[in-house]
Amino acid sequence: MTRMRTIEWKDGTVITIDQTKLPNETSFLKMKKCSQVATAIKDMKIRGAPIIGVAAAYGLALTAHHSKAREKRELMRELKQSAEILKKTRPTAVNLFWAVDRTVKKAQETSGSAKAVAKAVIDEAQRMADEDVQANRKIGGHGAKLIEDGDTVLTHCNAGKLATVDYGTALGVIRAAWEQGKQIKVIATETRPKLQGARLTAYELKSDGIPVTLITDSMVGYVMSKRMVNKVVVGADRIVRDAVVNKIGTFSIAVLAHEHGIPFYVAAPISTFDLTRSSKDVVVEERNPEEVTHFRSQRTAPIGMKALNPAFDITPMKYVSAIICETNVLSPTKLKDLQRLGEFKS
Ligand code: MRU
Repeated sequence: MTRMRTIEWKDGTVITIDQTKLPNETSFLKMKKCSQVATAIKDMKIRGAPIIGVAAAYGLALTAHHSKAREKRELMRELKQSAEILKKTRPTAVNLFWAVDRTVKKAQETSGSAKAVAKAVIDEAQRMADEDVQANRKIGGHGAKLIEDGDTVLTHCNAGKLATVDYGTALGVIRAAWEQGKQIKVIATETRPKLQGARLTAYELKSDGIPVTLITDSMVGYVMSKRMVNKVVVGADRIVRDAVVNKIGTFSIAVLAHEHGIPFYVAAPISTFDLTRSSKDVVVEERNPEEVTHFRSQRTAPIGMKALNPAFDITPMKYVSAIICETNVLSPTKLKDLQRLGEFKS
């Protein structure tokens, strides 16, 4: 696993690891245009809620850096066009919308020449990247208190370094507990159909030397019934007033955890909170059904087979034991605290 951040800005180029190639190949994308960032997000070369937010901010930074505009008004027009393109990439993770709006707002509030505005946009994107790393470290610190020596923690999808600028949210909790010397084990679900668990989480944990065992998504009930797991920690794409939106399969894991009396924790930065909305407002991304009918371009279902492919699902708060964010460990029943955080974010 590379020591560099998952995404970096270097002299007008955004560098990131191509996540679709892992774990077999470590290849880097070097992007100079916002449209390339948008395509990389859409194709899931960059994926995971916090990193797509930061990537979008860097996309706007590319627009600003390479713009020929002399006047602020002209640059604002270009930034707004880029913002529209970025917002059409993936609909579910709120971090993307939050990051785009925050960056455009920063540009709007900056007075002076186009050059001054461009600098403000680049600085804002860098700030967001730094904040993400700090938030994840804090999430790790708070969350590690919930993990005990000897625990086996189940996680779903990839909420690790690759899904963030560094360290990870759910995997940040696991990493922090491990760094504190707690002897823990992890069970990672493979996460059909895009295999973020098998390809990315297993890769990250294995590289760090943290004991990890892979299961298919359908084995969760079995491993819980056999008491092979005693805690669940997952990330989130959007936390609304009444629910947690995360990778498809999360809801089933939460219900199974509830049934078996296993704590179900959600680790996410405040940039993932969207507390002015509820679950009925959430757009769940529907991806190409071929991701289900095919495995790596090889058809596995009959020709012309219909398939569903929602990328996320919605877990009602009643299944969530606690939400671990950078400021605190929150009880989901304390919606007032969450509301306050919502205000804090905006
Ligand atoms: O479709 P993906 O791979 O972007 O989905 C990612 C997830 O669902 C993660 O669990 C979530 O973004 C949290 S990442 C810290």
